Amino acid sequence: MGTTRLDKVRADFLTDLEQAGDDAEAVEKVRIKFAGRRSGLLLDLTAALRELPKEEKRDYGRALNELKTLINTKLAEVKVQANAATVATEPSSVDVTLPGTPVPRGAQHPVHIVRRRIEEIFLRMGYDVEAGPEAEDDWHNFEALNIPPDHPARDDQDTFYLPGGFLLRTHTSPVQARVMESRKPPIRIIVPGRVYRRDSDLRHSPMFHQIEGLLVDEGITFGNLKATLETFLHALFSDDVEVRLRPGYFPFTEPSAEVDISCIFCDRKGCGVCSGSGWIEILGSGMVDPRVFEAVGVDSERYTGFAFGLGLDRIAMLVYGIPDLRQLFAGDQRLTRQFA
Ligand code: DAH
Repeated sequence: MGTTRLDKVRADFLTDLEQAGDDAEAVEKVRIKFAGRRSGLLLDLTAALRELPKEEKRDYGRALNELKTLINTKLAEVKVQANAATVATEPSSVDVTLPGTPVPRGAQHPVHIVRRRIEEIFLRMGYDVEAGPEAEDDWHNFEALNIPPDHPARDDQDTFYLPGGFLLRTHTSPVQARVMESRKPPIRIIVPGRVYRRDSDLRHSPMFHQIEGLLVDEGITFGNLKATLETFLHALFSDDVEVRLRPGYFPFTEPSAEVDISCIFCDRKGCGVCSGSGWIEILGSGMVDPRVFEAVGVDSERYTGFAFGLGLDRIAMLVYGIPDLRQLFAGDQRLTRQFA
């Protein structure tokens, strides 16, 4: 008789719950009616257990426990479904159709890109990449490179002097001297790095970048220099560019040559970039002056070599059409972002 009542409550619960559907308020009413802590039907049914004759207690108790479990599990299930339904329909919740939050992507600086490209070209030709200090001494920056204290070449390189006889290197050439002092030929190196001069306008910044090259071995000729530079410039720009060597002067090379490429913008017809000349000056170079070899302890009877130096920033400006050198170092992400 007691279990019949349980069966009825069970059937009522299932119908009520079914009718409540996914209406959260209706479900809550069902919960209160059956499982409410103060007046739920389960309380009455539990109280009824005490009134039953002994022989019915066991069956009733078991059936009551099953009913309790059923009601609690069903209510919990409906609650989970209702929560899921709310998340999907509430306007304030996640809308999976909206575009995601963008994750900003870093970009390489144009000077860095150019530097890596040049390094790769020379690494393929068997060169090592070297570095040297930016705070240099007079010996490596000037004297060892055949630039004595009263030499007019010092005027071209307005120097930042530091306390204690040091200076900010005005070019990457001092690393030539450092490497030759510390190592026997054959030497094949390139040296990218920052250099400093007291200069600032559209085409000059007090800090800029150069790459130095040095090759020293027995039997190296001017022909090797020319072939190396042509190979390099063709790889950097294109096989179509023409390479022109003009006589030049540098204290640390003899003979010296200034190297031009045919203008990559107008194909030698003459344009704004090449100032109408059809040629763009790209680097300085020459055969290492025997006086440099002597200064750093390399046997100038046995060895010859060539060196060259170029400005990385100028090449980045050319390749990417950047009109003002100082833009490269202004730290404005609107420029760098374009290289992502
Ligand atoms: N050091 C020179 C400068 O800063 C560039 C240069 C010219 C480097 C000729 C060289 C070279 O190694 O052979 O203007």
